Amino acid sequence: MSHQDRSLFDLARASLDREAQRALAWEGTLAEYLALVEERPQLARNAFQRLSDMLESHGSRPSSERGARRRWKLFDDPFGSGRDAVFGLDGPLDELVATLRAAARGLGPERRVILLHGPVGSAKSTIVRLLKRGLEQYSRTDEGALFTFRWEVDGQRIPSALHQDPLLLLPHAARAQVEARLNAKRRRGPAIRIEGELDPASRWWYAELLARHGGDWAQAMEHVRVQRFVISEEDRVGIGTFQPKDEKNQDSTELTGDIDYRRIAEFGSDSDPRAFNFDGELCVANRGLAEFIEVLKLDVAFLYDLLGATQEHAIKPKKFALTSIDEVILGHTNEPEYRKLATNELMEAFRDRTIKIDVPYNLALSDEVQIYRRQFSSERLPGRSVAPHTLEMAALWAVLTRLEEPTNSSLGIVQKARLYDGQSVQGFGPEHVTELRKAAPREGLFGISPRYVQDRIAAALVSERPTVTAFDVLDSLEAGLTHHSLVSTSD
Ligand SMILES: Nc1ncnc2c1ncn2[C@@H]1O[C@H](COP(=O)(O)OP(=O)(O)OP(=O)(O)O)[C@@H](O)[C@H]1O
Ligand SMILES: [Mg+2]
Repeated sequence: MSHQDRSLFDLARASLDREAQRALAWEGTLAEYLALVEERPQLARNAFQRLSDMLESHGSRPSSERGARRRWKLFDDPFGSGRDAVFGLDGPLDELVATLRAAARGLGPERRVILLHGPVGSAKSTIVRLLKRGLEQYSRTDEGALFTFRWEVDGQRIPSALHQDPLLLLPHAARAQVEARLNAKRRRGPAIRIEGELDPASRWWYAELLARHGGDWAQAMEHVRVQRFVISEEDRVGIGTFQPKDEKNQDSTELTGDIDYRRIAEFGSDSDPRAFNFDGELCVANRGLAEFIEVLKLDVAFLYDLLGATQEHAIKPKKFALTSIDEVILGHTNEPEYRKLATNELMEAFRDRTIKIDVPYNLALSDEVQIYRRQFSSERLPGRSVAPHTLEMAALWAVLTRLEEPTNSSLGIVQKARLYDGQSVQGFGPEHVTELRKAAPREGLFGISPRYVQDRIAAALVSERPTVTAFDVLDSLEAGLTHHSLVSTSD
């Protein structure tokens, strides 16, 4: 049969990998799941361990960047064939990965908000986006499989609202022994720990079913079906994103969830956990990653809720006891926003509970130019052409706005940029770069963002002429500056 004869339906069906689909749909009893975990203890990893293994699964290579050890390949965007790659920034990315790996080993960062901090448009959102895509894709692989459970009672199916780990169903008395067995079998990676409690709704069912079966745990567990699930930002499973809106309008239900008033009638009380919707961002993100955009714009009370959740690995839904969470909490903030709060008392408390990772602009020309080549290379612009050196000029212009004037009078700022790019100029070589960087520690945290340059190149391309030259782009860059509010200096 040729392609022409096949129905579109068959074509769609043939594109699916049956085996993979079947694996994703795995479900079984708690006993079957425990057998699976015993065989592969990695199924019981916590969110930090899974994220850090995901990063390692993409591999790394030695970095050629000053101060960085490794370049982590996830940030080359293996999913979008490089369309969302982060160029340069090997150092900050390595620091981020090292922090996540320490958290996976339980060394402390797992109890902090990890904060990406940098000037506007320095790829903070791009970095988080890659982590999210990475988690989604990893959860579909054999290596990254993860499981949750549902209750089946009286013909109803009640899914674990937070996609909790089925191991939380184990009685406390058994946990230490189970952990020991799993860790004895685990060949590599940090130890597995069974931490946390069932959420209030599951706890309700757990107690109810134990009571129904006269305290027989095994019989109560007959009502449990374990199932594999897949992390998906779109479906709000394992990835939550929070963006502050109107300051007056925030309340903690957005983080945890709210009472479902329609169901109060059914259950008779607003303190019945079955009448609560655990759909706040921190609930949604359980087992995966919670992203907080512009975290410093959060109202103070809110920020404390967030810091508390991070430190305790628990949230406090209205009217209910603390509820365990297992997720990586990652915030980002702009440099201007951060500076505005630098003198605020709140900052002290905040700084103490966060791990800040600076994400600066590129200072190396060859990294910066790749940002523009990706978007404006001639093959991406049918019918138009960009004259040679145009994008290089734009990148140089951008890098120059981010540098401090060298104090050494025999070195000009353009030469400095070339030095930072690994070239040697008039008696200066790579060995001088460390010294120069030390003398100007704020370089990369000010200047003009790639986003602005992208917009101005696009503006130049709108003109009627078929070829855009370096002069057109420089004109466009300069012309835009009069409207640019973020021209800042290194004061
Ligand atoms: N190092 C980089 N590598 C690749 N692209 C970059 C880099 N820095 C910035 N960009 C590009 O600049 C644009 C802005 O990036 P992004 O939105 O990730 O920045 P941001 O730090 O989140 O900005 P904001 O502070 O305004 O939220 C994107 O088009 C991104 O691809
Ligand atoms: Mg952003």
